[in-house]
Amino acid sequence: MAIVIKTSQEVEKMRRSGAVVREILEYVRGFVKSGATTMDLENAAVRKIEELGVKPAFKGYHGYPCVLCTSINQEVVHGIPSAKRVLREGDIVSIDTGVIIDGYYGDSAITVPVGEKIAPKAQRLLDVTKASLERGIQAVRAGATLGDIGAAVQNVVEAEGFSVVREFVGHGIGTSLHEDPQVPNFGRRGQGMKLREGMVLCIEPMVNSGRPDVQVLADGWTAVTQDGSLSAHFEHTVAVTKDGAVVLTQ
Ligand code: MF3
Ligand code: CO
Repeated sequence: MAIVIKTSQEVEKMRRSGAVVREILEYVRGFVKSGATTMDLENAAVRKIEELGVKPAFKGYHGYPCVLCTSINQEVVHGIPSAKRVLREGDIVSIDTGVIIDGYYGDSAITVPVGEKIAPKAQRLLDVTKASLERGIQAVRAGATLGDIGAAVQNVVEAEGFSVVREFVGHGIGTSLHEDPQVPNFGRRGQGMKLREGMVLCIEPMVNSGRPDVQVLADGWTAVTQDGSLSAHFEHTVAVTKDGAVVLTQ
């Protein structure tokens, strides 16, 4: 698939999708508490999506059954909401969602603690993963490379002794959820494809507190760390300009 350069009108449309994704995530975050199930989060998201009159991006995507991905603790990404999965004090839960408005996609994820009693190492994992996304975004501008983004993310993560997942990467986004190019969270400065104005990318570091290796469970979706260590995930949709990134899911 080729890389699709967006016009400024298209980027404006994606700003709307991005803003709605943010609104849904902020709404759902309010339902994260000990005793809630990941299906409660899904139901909250569905209500918000219906109220806003937008289309969910994930439901039906390659047969995915829900509007959210909810991934707890050692789950890395693509956890499927379930009435049997109860959030407990001290857990961390990644909430990932996307919408389609007027044909254009937005995609973003956050990882949040459940309750106040979060272990220092889990809190540090959240802080470092979020910081790595911010550093990745700071590396974006026309003329920079994909390797600049990956290296920026990887440096932040590995300086803290955490590891970056290799099997899943960020992606271009537009009138499809996944467009070229792939956007790895690792790499070397100056290497890889040059970024151009009008590219729109999802940067989404998945960071493990232990080893980087992951495996997919028998449900065909849920990715978990092989060593059982905690994992966090943050994602933004960003547009490339001459001066830097414009975060569309802010
Ligand atoms: N943010 C994820 C991604 O970009 C979510 C996709 S989940 C799926 O890959 F269900 F839609 F596949
Ligand atoms: Co994504």
